[in-house]
Amino acid sequence: MIAGSYRTLFCMPLDRKRFAGHNGSEWIEQRRFAMKTLKDIGIGRIAWESSVESEVEDFVQLLEQQGGKPYDVHDPLSTSVSNNITSIILGKPLLRGDPRRAIVDGGIEGAIMSFSSSSLASLFPFLMQFLAKLGLSSHADTFKKVSDFHNFIKSEMERRKKIPSDEWNEEIFIDGYLKEIEKIKGKGMKTWFNENNLTGSSQALLIGGSDTSRTFLCWIFLAMAAYPEVQKNVQKEIDAILGKDGKLPWSERAKLPYTYATLLETNRWRSITPLGVLHCASEDTKIGQYDIPKGSSVLPNIYSLHNDPKYWKVPDSFRPERFLDKNGCLIPTRLDSYAPFSLGKIVLNFSFIYETYVGRIKSVR
Ligand code: HEM
Repeated sequence: MIAGSYRTLFCMPLDRKRFAGHNGSEWIEQRRFAMKTLKDIGIGRIAWESSVESEVEDFVQLLEQQGGKPYDVHDPLSTSVSNNITSIILGKPLLRGDPRRAIVDGGIEGAIMSFSSSSLASLFPFLMQFLAKLGLSSHADTFKKVSDFHNFIKSEMERRKKIPSDEWNEEIFIDGYLKEIEKIKGKGMKTWFNENNLTGSSQALLIGGSDTSRTFLCWIFLAMAAYPEVQKNVQKEIDAILGKDGKLPWSERAKLPYTYATLLETNRWRSITPLGVLHCASEDTKIGQYDIPKGSSVLPNIYSLHNDPKYWKVPDSFRPERFLDKNGCLIPTRLDSYAPFSLGKIVLNFSFIYETYVGRIKSVR
């Protein structure tokens, strides 16, 4: 069983604040709940879809204001993407200019920075955390940003707790989670639904979902510029099924095999998380011919899967056709060498956010 999460710098600034550091059954329970809730209130739901659409329209307007001049999309795209997840966690997006938006984005940026950080901080997370708390290391600023972010999520939870429980709205992640805590109260059940994990899961969704989706979108913008013939095909396909209102609902995606294949190919061509997330073996196990002793670190080499010439002809080139059969229909993505969302029994497929962006950006010209 590789069901353990590993202690890395990722959780360093949020230490004791429960982020991405769960193991075994606790991790599985929390992950299942997050996935189920997102399915119930996010993916494919009209209310959430129209909230994503208005975010995308804001973003497109911003692009249009640049009058075709080169423009660095990094920051506006980051806040746009994160706000979609914020709207699931809090029940509504934060408006442009709302100072809380900067707190969320600062926390996400800080956590991602500490995740990708190497050197001493990776070797001695406790020492570095201590120094950061005292303001004595280069991580002090990151630590503050992530702490402010944590305090903000916590204060939102406290605010929702003051509302009578029968008014909690399950369309809001925090409320749904509070209901779960309420359900188990006094029943002596062995579960890990508690307030620490509520804030932890909210943070994990915001941090895990924002940077990945933004990076993905940046790669697809690049691919569209570098491969104009692919861009032309995608545009043609979208134009053919665009509604009179110029909108393209997510439910129509099956009618866009070429566009969909382009998204799949982007995820292969530029693996967003080339080495997934570090896990550890929670018990002695065996993968193929390899013995993995309990406690070993395990990293999936997603990059290598996506670039293996045994499976992918000329892996360096960008070819959406790889994912289409001779009739132009999508081929199943359960391929031996394709795992953008990693491997395992409970892989989270979170493609809905960037799919909505791509459909909308291409359709709002
Ligand atoms: C291009 C988009 C995305 C890619 C390529 C991606 C990829 C990944 C990968 C490879 C992992 C590690 C899985 C594992 O080893 O267990 C992961 C974990 C995670 N992702 Fe994503 N992800 C994306 C979008 C999202 C979105 C939109 C969300 C939230 C709404 C999200 C939330 C998470 C969370 C919470 C985890 C940690 C799960 C855990 O600790 O069990 N991701 N993602």
